[in-house]
Amino acid sequence: QHCKALQEKFKHKIKTEYFHDGVLFEGLATSKESLLEIRDLELRDGDILIDTYPKCGTTWMIQIVSLILAKGDVDKANEKPIHERVPFLELYGEYKQLKDMPIEAQRCMKSHLQLRMLPKQTTEKKVKVIYVARNPKDTAVSFYHLYRMDKTYNFQGTWNEFFEMYIDGYLLWGNWFDHIKQYWNAKQDGTFSEMFLTTYEDMHKNPFKSVKDVATFLNVELDENTVAKIATESSFDKMKANPNTNFRFEEWFDLSKSEFMRKGKVGDWKNYFTVNQSEQFDKRFAEKMEGCSWKFDYE
Ligand code: A3P
Repeated sequence: QHCKALQEKFKHKIKTEYFHDGVLFEGLATSKESLLEIRDLELRDGDILIDTYPKCGTTWMIQIVSLILAKGDVDKANEKPIHERVPFLELYGEYKQLKDMPIEAQRCMKSHLQLRMLPKQTTEKKVKVIYVARNPKDTAVSFYHLYRMDKTYNFQGTWNEFFEMYIDGYLLWGNWFDHIKQYWNAKQDGTFSEMFLTTYEDMHKNPFKSVKDVATFLNVELDENTVAKIATESSFDKMKANPNTNFRFEEWFDLSKSEFMRKGKVGDWKNYFTVNQSEQFDKRFAEKMEGCSWKFDYE
């Protein structure tokens, strides 16, 4: 009923959208059948899953992990485009690629799925779960631009309209609040045998430390020079200049509207949120995030 009310309330509707288990999805790239199949996916001990709410720094983390697994060998890490290195579980049936990956390879996958939709074995096997969160205001702005540029989403509305959709959670992959809270709680409850939780803002503040911490989590030993090199090689400018990390797919994206590697900053929300919207958002945040002590930087 809530889903229906949302659909009626907002003018924008993706032609192919549908709800699955209360979460909005797009029907060209995903399907109910694949979402169900993903639940039964066979995972292996040591698999790496990078999960995020959209626009929280997924691609950045994938590049860091690629460079760490390649022990700082930049050419090796960049050999393939990022979307060919790391299957996006729920998109275009990419989860099917996992079974063909060699047994000796440490498999890495990406997802924006909510916890209850992940493969069941994510909690049963020793899967290394990396979760990246981002302050919700910058996430909103970044998502707004994705909605504008993605040809399937075809969002023609204004920022004000998008803001209403965001605050009500009428967006693909659900709402920021539920997503973040679920994974925060999972960390507190020890739901996954191994979980690394971080934020986009922490990665920004101290890229060297972030790389070091991720490497430790993945049990990859690196000397300080290699850590520094990885931090540099995964910087915004390097990734923007690299065709294998900068998604410039004209068949998917209208690049005249925005770029995937857009600004890469903390605090861009101030250029979009009115004072009123910011206050409205803070109020909603306080209600929705009650009991969750995860703190976010906004500057
Ligand atoms: P902006 O739109 O604010 O620029 P995701 O990969 O989860 O879709 O997140 C995309 C966001 O992360 C975009 O944010 C993008 O510019 C930013 N990003 C990607 N790589 C980055 C990097 N190396 N450093 C900082 N931000 C990065």
